[in-house]
Amino acid sequence: MAEATSRGIGPVILLGSPGAGKGTQAKLIVERYRIPQISTGDLLRENVQRGTPLGLLAKDVMARGELVPDDLMYDMVAQRLRQVDCERGFILDGFPRNPAQAGWLDAFLEHEFFGNAQRDRCLPIVIRIDVDYNKLLRRITGRRSCPVCGRIYNVYSQPPHVADRCDVDGSTLVTREDDREEVIRERLAAYEQQTKPVAEYYARKGRLVSVDGDLPVNEVTEQIFRVIEGQHAGATGNN
Ligand code: AP5
Repeated sequence: MAEATSRGIGPVILLGSPGAGKGTQAKLIVERYRIPQISTGDLLRENVQRGTPLGLLAKDVMARGELVPDDLMYDMVAQRLRQVDCERGFILDGFPRNPAQAGWLDAFLEHEFFGNAQRDRCLPIVIRIDVDYNKLLRRITGRRSCPVCGRIYNVYSQPPHVADRCDVDGSTLVTREDDREEVIRERLAAYEQQTKPVAEYYARKGRLVSVDGDLPVNEVTEQIFRVIEGQHAGATGNN
């Protein structure tokens, strides 16, 4: 596979249900292309932990497995995307999550991202990770993550070398508050009702590519790199 490019690759949008592997794959894309992962779930959890006004508003909504109101999301995402490390591109993990957010993102990119001459004009690469519904519960209930470096594990499929300890920094792994079975069902329902149409939104624009997320992590990653490099080659070929 071609070496990672030092040129910008533009926005990469990862879609997929809770537990599909968006966070796992986003971290591998970061390593290869050196563009930041913007996980709206992680940003919200940081706000909850710090007790910010946004965190206080979001806490109970997230605990119920529902979506945080759009207006709160827009401010948070806009602030993050305006940071300098996003200039070569970025990976959106967990955003957009409904068609209104997708429309907002299109307008934001048009006016603020592509409007800046410093930035490469690469259209968003939209990748949906498809996973069999019946596997999602096991993936989510088995998930553990490192509170320090954010690395994601799974007690069934990707256990750490030492039980409950991060391989990278030895921290005690944690389980997310919303990874309880009753909340997971709400999150999956929110995905079915509100987030699935986002894929249709991008499919209508001819921008959606699906990858098979049922495969082992490294095979999913290979598919994603192929999509990114294929689209990047197409975009630069047209320049
Ligand atoms: P968020 O944090 O975005 O959670 P999510 O979308 O539910 O996704 P997850 O983080 O659960 O799953 P993932 O796809 O990242 O899977 P992972 O890689 O960890 O959102 C949380 C909440 O924040 C929402 O409910 C909402 O309230 C709020 N929110 C966030 N964004 C919002 C927005 N835009 N608007 C409004 N509200 C918003 O993998 C899962 C497990 O599977 C891991 O254990 C992993 O090791 C394992 N695994 C991964 N890949 C594989 C594989 N190929 N094979 C086997 N196991 C695998």
